Amino acid sequence: MIVLGIETSCDETAVALVTAEKEILASLVLSQIGEHAAFGGVVPEIAARAHLDHLDTLIRAALTESGVGFRDLGGVAATCGPGLIGGLIVGMMAGKALAAARGLPFAAINHLEAHALTARLTGLVAFPYLLLLVSGGHTQLVVAEEVGKYRILGGTVDDAAGECFDKSAKLLGLPFPGGPNLEKAARDCTDPEGAATRFPLPLPMAGRKGCDFSFSGLKTAVRNHVEKTPGGMLKTQDIADLACALESAVARTLADRTARAMDIFLERYGNAPLAGQALPALVVAGGVAANLKIRERLGALAAEKGFALHAPPLKLCGDNAAMVAWAGVERLGRGMADGLDFVARPRWPLDAERSGKSG
Ligand code: KG4
Ligand code: ZN
Repeated sequence: MIVLGIETSCDETAVALVTAEKEILASLVLSQIGEHAAFGGVVPEIAARAHLDHLDTLIRAALTESGVGFRDLGGVAATCGPGLIGGLIVGMMAGKALAAARGLPFAAINHLEAHALTARLTGLVAFPYLLLLVSGGHTQLVVAEEVGKYRILGGTVDDAAGECFDKSAKLLGLPFPGGPNLEKAARDCTDPEGAATRFPLPLPMAGRKGCDFSFSGLKTAVRNHVEKTPGGMLKTQDIADLACALESAVARTLADRTARAMDIFLERYGNAPLAGQALPALVVAGGVAANLKIRERLGALAAEKGFALHAPPLKLCGDNAAMVAWAGVERLGRGMADGLDFVARPRWPLDAERSGKSG
């Protein structure tokens, strides 16, 4: 089965074709960064219009590039939430129209579930597994029990990790998008330990019970450091050091909370069969999972706790449509098609009941 996937929930217009045998036949991502950069963030109206302008061209390009025709498709999957409603409607309606015109099953995809299932596209990961979902809008520790069945162990009480990177990058005068540019700036830090001493930052929630996160205090601490620099003028080295200190603080906080989730996972699911896996799996997903320092820290934690870390390749961490098409393969393969009356959901928690119709 080949599934066509469509992603338009934020500022990437993406189309992909993925097979049930885990082959990515096409995966096109058109970033709108240039269109939003002047505003320092994503402007919903501009995003929706840009999706509308480019989506049909991208669908045609994906089919042409892979030599796949509409008649070869086994289904259509489109992100229907959570996200910016204008963009969601553009992608969802295009997907429904294709499904209706070709008589194909339609899968309404939860963007978070698409991130969550990516590791099963790129590797051998069996249910149940522990998932750390870190993106611009979400930071959660979740047990993925089955397709469509997620148990949330903890989440952020304020900002998401990506949001913390984005807002801090802005304070440091780095260009949009913040996360990747902050990682780039941090590479110029020659003495990470010295940087952490020069710019002490809190480790929010560290050592506390449970698996919740908090990131707004970190961003405030970055602001305080910026304001304390003489004249508020950061030198290139200050920016590199502060960026590096922040990356370490976020990585350590994520690891602290994930360690707790691992204990809970083993307690509750430790006896579940590993289905061919040597070790229980920790999956990291979402845009922030592209950060190398975070991957490294989680790798060390996994080794320490007896888990195998599964991190998707960098280009499948950020928003893309291969993950949406794959979620479509997983859902349609289990007979979980949705009606064409499915209503887009700007808010759509992973563990929400899915009535099959509106939200
Ligand atoms: O999953 P994603 O592409 O979109 C959402 O669903 O939110 O995640 C985007 C977030 C942004 O906050 C971005 O700054 C962050 O992921 N991000 C990074 C890196 N690449 C993307 N944060 C830190 N380091 C990176 N290399
Ligand atoms: Zn995302």
